[in-house]
Amino acid sequence: MATWSNFNLQNGASPLMEQIIFFHDHTLIILIMITILVSYLMLNLFFNKYINRFLLEGQLIEMIWTILPAITLIFIALPSLRLLYLLDELNNPLITLKSIGHQWYWSYEYSDFHNIEFDSYMIPSNELSNNNFRLLDVDNRIILPMNNQIRIMVTATDVIHSWTIPSLGVKVDANPGRLNQTNFFINRPGIFYGQCSEICGANHSFMPIVIESISIKNFINWINNYS
Ligand code: CUA
Repeated sequence: MATWSNFNLQNGASPLMEQIIFFHDHTLIILIMITILVSYLMLNLFFNKYINRFLLEGQLIEMIWTILPAITLIFIALPSLRLLYLLDELNNPLITLKSIGHQWYWSYEYSDFHNIEFDSYMIPSNELSNNNFRLLDVDNRIILPMNNQIRIMVTATDVIHSWTIPSLGVKVDANPGRLNQTNFFINRPGIFYGQCSEICGANHSFMPIVIESISIKNFINWINNYS
């Protein structure tokens, strides 16, 4: 989860988030190289000797400084497209979780089983326990098995919300009257926090998402004992 002074992305807890972090670093390196080059060129303008005062065109240099940025953009665009299509690829999910956005809470349905469904509200500040995080913990967590493909279907009942978990690389808008699909694969046990990220009204900041990732054995146990 995000803590104080966290400048970078949160650690990835899924293979796709790992890829997103790699892509971010790759693009940032290119950005830094461009910034350094342009800063150097601009700095040099201060020491201009006005030698080429009457220079109006130069076919070769114009060719080079047109093609070079185009090549640079390809180096960003191709990995970006690869990621974009990779993120949407879903094969053989083990379970499907349905997540419905409301003003201002999420509700969840596990329709693969005995139609388990529950609401998930943020724990108000005055009811926090010592092991809770303010504005981030909920009364009913999503329980999911790690090391399995999970499909989530996202929708909303009133306005547009957005189901977002940074450490899993998931961000899907929840639109009323529309069902969106995405997938993820959690590669370790743990608790993963997310928040609504579509400005959805007065209490937009207060509809967090909490996923508890456990082993498949414990997950089956949880399903069996759910009442
Ligand atoms: Cu729901 Cu912002």
